[in-house]
Amino acid sequence: MLGFLAGFVVAAVLLGLLVVVNSRRRQEFFSYAIDTLDAIRQGRYDVRLYDSGGKSHQALMDSINQMAQAVEENIVLLSHERDVLQHILRSMTTGVIYVGSNSRVQMVNEAAERMFRRPAEQWLNQEHWALFRDYNVSAAIDRALLFGTPWHNELKLRDNMTVEVQLIVLEVSLRGETAKTVHDVLLICNDVSEWRRLERMRSEFVANVSHELKTPVAAIQGFAETLLDGDVDEESQTAFLNTIYNEAVRMGNLISDLLELSKLEGAEHTVQPKAMRLNRVIERAQTNLQGSVEKHNLVLKVHPCEDVTVWADEEKVLQVLLNLITNAIHYTPMGGTIEIRCDTLVDRVKVHVADTGIGIPENDQQRVFERFYRVDRDRSRATGGTGLGLAIVKHIVNVHGGQVGVDSLVGQGSDFWFTLPRIGATMQS
Ligand SMILES: Nc1ncnc2c1ncn2[C@@H]1O[C@H](COP(=O)(O)OP(=O)(O)O)[C@@H](O)[C@H]1O
Ligand SMILES: [Mg+2]
Repeated sequence: MLGFLAGFVVAAVLLGLLVVVNSRRRQEFFSYAIDTLDAIRQGRYDVRLYDSGGKSHQALMDSINQMAQAVEENIVLLSHERDVLQHILRSMTTGVIYVGSNSRVQMVNEAAERMFRRPAEQWLNQEHWALFRDYNVSAAIDRALLFGTPWHNELKLRDNMTVEVQLIVLEVSLRGETAKTVHDVLLICNDVSEWRRLERMRSEFVANVSHELKTPVAAIQGFAETLLDGDVDEESQTAFLNTIYNEAVRMGNLISDLLELSKLEGAEHTVQPKAMRLNRVIERAQTNLQGSVEKHNLVLKVHPCEDVTVWADEEKVLQVLLNLITNAIHYTPMGGTIEIRCDTLVDRVKVHVADTGIGIPENDQQRVFERFYRVDRDRSRATGGTGLGLAIVKHIVNVHGGQVGVDSLVGQGSDFWFTLPRIGATMQS
């Protein structure tokens, strides 16, 4: 009986010990599991539970590990998507600003920072009213946040910066007990300054053309009316008819120059470059204008450009030379000299048409290449000029990948030059 009792007590103590050990193990496991879950919660998505000896929690361990694995995979995927999105936003030329339903900016990309000249730190978490100086924009953002009203308009930020702002309303559902929908707003800002500049240039151009055409038309109309009235002696009649003829020629020149410019704007079709010898086209220009040079009592000296082959459209280069030499003829007093020479550079050739004429004041030197820009309008008119010659020259040279310029001193002369790509150089390199 005693033996039985002793046996029973030993068995009870052993069982008690087993229970204590087991429950300590379980406690250890749970605190290990909690630590692991805490680590995952804090962002260490690669942490896993490892076998701590007992097999009893294997199923729980497996499912925690599987969950951690799934979270890690999702996080990697989301981070990748976020990185791609950030990369896209960073490299966009369109400005993007995200205003949350709390009226504060949540995101701004680099294009928007540049446009508004404000670094990201000064945007984030700021009230939108404090950021946009334009009342209309801020009021529109408020309307979009409150009522979901989209909006777009143009905003002049600086003298040379006009942006088109578009507000896009995003409906966001809030989770939780008071599930409801609020509005976030995305501002999309496109830089339209260049478009506006081109539009302005086009309308200025149309105004200039109209003005240029008005003068000859008025002259023709006036003289024709006088002639129709009769009572004009024969000498005056001839003079009037001459004027009418000259003005008609001027209009004709203007129209053909305008057509030339407009053809050049679609240059890919009109310019057909080939390998050509520069000397050949210079000779053609010389032959063409020799008569006019002599008529104006000038001397044309040509220094041959030996063996220079360029990649260009011969007819267009001829046009450039004819324009430059004609100008030299018109703006050089009798007895002067016009010289044509070349500087052969590594990859291109620089062709000079220099004269000993009236020269161009420094302030006007860059502007003479603009359409209709003339230093002395009356003198240009007297030569039958249209004010478009140098604009055409510049266009042709640029289409060939070259540059134009002028060095000039008033009273001493002008040296107009242009460059063309050389072929020998390209082949050697
Ligand atoms: N060789 C030159 N010497 C002095 N002035 C020149 C010369 N070539 C051009 N210019 C100036 O540049 C202006 C623009 O030239 P261009 O475009 O050919 O127009 P246009 O000759 O019809 O007036 C001329 O009106 C003139 O004032
Ligand atoms: Mg001219």
